[in-house]
Amino acid sequence: MSMQEELKGLEQQAFESIKNATELNVLDAIRIEYLGKKGKLTQVLKGMRNLDASQRPIVGSLANDVRDKLTVQLEETKEKLEMKKMKEKITQEKIDITLPGKNIPRGYAHVITQIMEELEDLFIGMGYQVVEGPEVEADSYNFERMNLPKDHPARDMQDTFYITEETLMRTHTSPVQARTMDTHDFSKGPLKMISPGKVYRRDNDDATHSHQFHQIEGLVVDKNISMSDLKGTLEIFAKKMFGEEREIRLRPSYFPFTEPSVEVDVSCFRCGGKGCSVCKQTGWIEILGAGIVHPNVLEMSGIDSTEYSGFAFGMGPDRIAMLKYGIDDIRHFYQNDLRFLEQFKVRR
Ligand code: PHE
Repeated sequence: MSMQEELKGLEQQAFESIKNATELNVLDAIRIEYLGKKGKLTQVLKGMRNLDASQRPIVGSLANDVRDKLTVQLEETKEKLEMKKMKEKITQEKIDITLPGKNIPRGYAHVITQIMEELEDLFIGMGYQVVEGPEVEADSYNFERMNLPKDHPARDMQDTFYITEETLMRTHTSPVQARTMDTHDFSKGPLKMISPGKVYRRDNDDATHSHQFHQIEGLVVDKNISMSDLKGTLEIFAKKMFGEEREIRLRPSYFPFTEPSVEVDVSCFRCGGKGCSVCKQTGWIEILGAGIVHPNVLEMSGIDSTEYSGFAFGMGPDRIAMLKYGIDDIRHFYQNDLRFLEQFKVRR
């Protein structure tokens, strides 16, 4: 058999095996079998040295030809097999989106936060802006600007934690009144704000007292603001928060930063006013303090008290939550007992 015939036969054989190969490793074995260092083609070429010099270039070029063809064939088949393998893999790895996922436990807002956000929504709806102030506050803002000079006896009711002699944990959210009045530009319209946040007092903790609790301050300053504006606003608040049938009642009170001052009661939402254990048989529940902003407080912020007037109120979300849900001890809010907190799980 001539070398040409041998080469042709080899090519035929190789083509046949390549065609039948269905696995990449089989294909690789074929490549080594024919084109490898000790492969069949190499073997045939070794026989070239026995050829006539005239024959060598002819056989050489044929051998190159066969090698090139086989290489191309191997490459193409390899690509095809790889593609096939990839497709198989993709179909196998298909994700079943109908499988139930892992349940990731989701948090929820604390009951006090829920109440505060409910109140914020209510007042935002009436055009108020929500302002926050610092919990570590200057004595000047917490007391003096609220018309409580250093020797004022009403300071006793709001003893607190002092950072330095002039810096303290704020005892109420009222200092935010002064802070917003200082910066409000009345040429842009009336001042209407609420300020929610934490406050502190040196109280002995018991069922109704906590050394840290919450308040929401409210302040409106404009021309011709009167007691009737305050009353109308609080009526809306009481009805939205405790039910449409609720009424409010104002009782005279005293705060250094308001004059006149009132304590505001809402008719009992449990008994409707007949008298029960929630309202201690009075038919009314005290929910906040309020009043007409004292002229001194306006003047200290550089607001002309002959031209402008305002009302302010301060309410306690802790107390509101206790009343709303019949919670008998304020300390429950701060002990982080999930058995308590999970009763107020509201998904948002
Ligand atoms: N700051 C008062 C308090 O903590 C509440 C209050 C606010 C009363 C605004 C009147 C006006 O008791």
